[in-house]
Amino acid sequence: MKLIFLGPPGAGKGTVAADVCKKLNIPQISTGDIFRELLKSGTPQANEIKSIIDKGELIPDEMTVQIVKNRLSKDDVKDGYILDGFPRTIPQAEAFDKIEKIDLVINFTVPDDSIIIKRLTERRICKKCGAIYHLTNIPPKTEGKCDKCGGDLYTRGDDEVDAVKNRLIVYKSQTAPLIAYYTEKGLLKDIDASVNPKDTFKQIEKLID
Ligand code: AP5
Repeated sequence: MKLIFLGPPGAGKGTVAADVCKKLNIPQISTGDIFRELLKSGTPQANEIKSIIDKGELIPDEMTVQIVKNRLSKDDVKDGYILDGFPRTIPQAEAFDKIEKIDLVINFTVPDDSIIIKRLTERRICKKCGAIYHLTNIPPKTEGKCDKCGGDLYTRGDDEVDAVKNRLIVYKSQTAPLIAYYTEKGLLKDIDASVNPKDTFKQIEKLID
């Protein structure tokens, strides 16, 4: 099954993608994770990407589409995948339509920006395995340590409040138009992502079963 997870930053796409991928035995392809991995190379291109991400802006479409194409050339996608955070603009979606046929777009809706700001400014991520926590909603058992692998938890540079507010502006102007784009194609289903992760997962299960 080929799925797209669409929704504002902090809607819980990454959190629930981990469980859905486990259930369907397919990989999660997060363009955000791929870009953050690229940052580690320390090249001039990596520095450019870092400054775009830290401001909460989007990486240019051409580069993003190329990165997704490369990722989809690997063997592990033959039974499907979840695209988490791609496409994010109409030109990305149009380019993607030329290379793949998607089964379903799940649109994570969150009624209030204040929920998103609280989720992101309190998010912590494991440096080692990428597990996602929240200081209040999904706290680790030991402060600063991952429950799953014991790795150190860190805060993403773009989870600082001004960057989060800009990401919301960018989402509304550049990504939200994809809701109409995929609705017209009959591919989009909404879920209420303001509830807890378990209930978010249950809504997705109903759509994919
Ligand atoms: P990316 O990494 O994709 O970030 P994002 O889309 O902004 O999404 P997030 O990872 O912030 O949120 P999420 O919905 O996954 O929420 P999470 O599950 O972590 O992109 C980062 C940057 O890379 C972009 O800004 C851009 O610069 C660049 N980029 C990426 N893709 C691109 C593209 N296609 N084109 C151009 N540029 C691109 O949850 C958030 C928090 O809430 C966590 O703390 C979690 O524990 C908590 N939480 C989750 N679910 C719940 C729940 N149900 N109830 C309570 N708390 C919850």
